[in-house]
Amino acid sequence: MPTVVFASSKGGVGKTTSALALSFVLVQSGASTTIIDADPNAPLARWADRFPTTIPSGLTVQHAVGNAAARAIDDAAQRDTFVIVDLEGTKNVEVSVGIGRADLALIPMQGSQLDADEATNVIRLIQAQEEVFRRPIPFRIFFTRTSPVIASKGMKDIHQQLRDAGVPLMQTSLLEREAFRAPFRLGTSFYEVSPDDVRNPQSAIDNAQAFAAEVTQILMEVDPANGQKESAHG
Ligand SMILES: Nc1ncnc2c1ncn2[C@@H]1O[C@H](COP(=O)(O)OP(=O)(O)OP(=O)(O)O)[C@@H](O)[C@H]1O
Ligand SMILES: [Mg+2]
Repeated sequence: MPTVVFASSKGGVGKTTSALALSFVLVQSGASTTIIDADPNAPLARWADRFPTTIPSGLTVQHAVGNAAARAIDDAAQRDTFVIVDLEGTKNVEVSVGIGRADLALIPMQGSQLDADEATNVIRLIQAQEEVFRRPIPFRIFFTRTSPVIASKGMKDIHQQLRDAGVPLMQTSLLEREAFRAPFRLGTSFYEVSPDDVRNPQSAIDNAQAFAAEVTQILMEVDPANGQKESAHG
């Protein structure tokens, strides 16, 4: 425990990439972590199958969808310091099951108005799950694939619109970095990748560590018991 679930009603916004980046930082810090790949397309399970020798120790990757994912999450939460869940980018019922298990749901967004509308869809989905499970499901939106060079005017407007609408937004964005894509090409995480293969991995490391630090801080804020569970295990 705790369980962090990456969700979005739209495909291709960066759930899988961000989930893996967060997991790399958590295991690097010594926290045993299980990724539940709850996407029927199994991107992370396929990654683990393809590069079995480069999976960092402390990281387990397991493929399970729908109700099986819920059981796998519960088992992993007994055993590991963190459980990270990567969902399919749809609004189907399997996704709802995953969100129902979340101590924190994280919703990636890229800086376009269409994505802002999609975020509204996911928030509705989360609120529907809150009714089903009769409990609050803490969630945050975060921006991903952000340009490292400029924070565009459009992005700032979207940030402001979301804040005005009372949407909970993470401060740390994940940047558009080759090092975040590299695991799927080379197997290795940004900690092991060579600067000869990927430009400036240190920037991705700093960015992912800031992201992970904010995630753990939010987990403590939403439920101080999350921090106790972490320190008890890790
Ligand atoms: N921070 C990042 N830096 C660079 N590339 C990224 C980043 N995040 C995602 N990408 C790229 O964007 C594309 C979509 O990312 P990803 O597969 O993680 O999205 P997803 O939300 O999991 O998609 P799906 O809904 O299909 O599961 C991929 O090509 C990935 O390499
Ligand atoms: Mg994915």
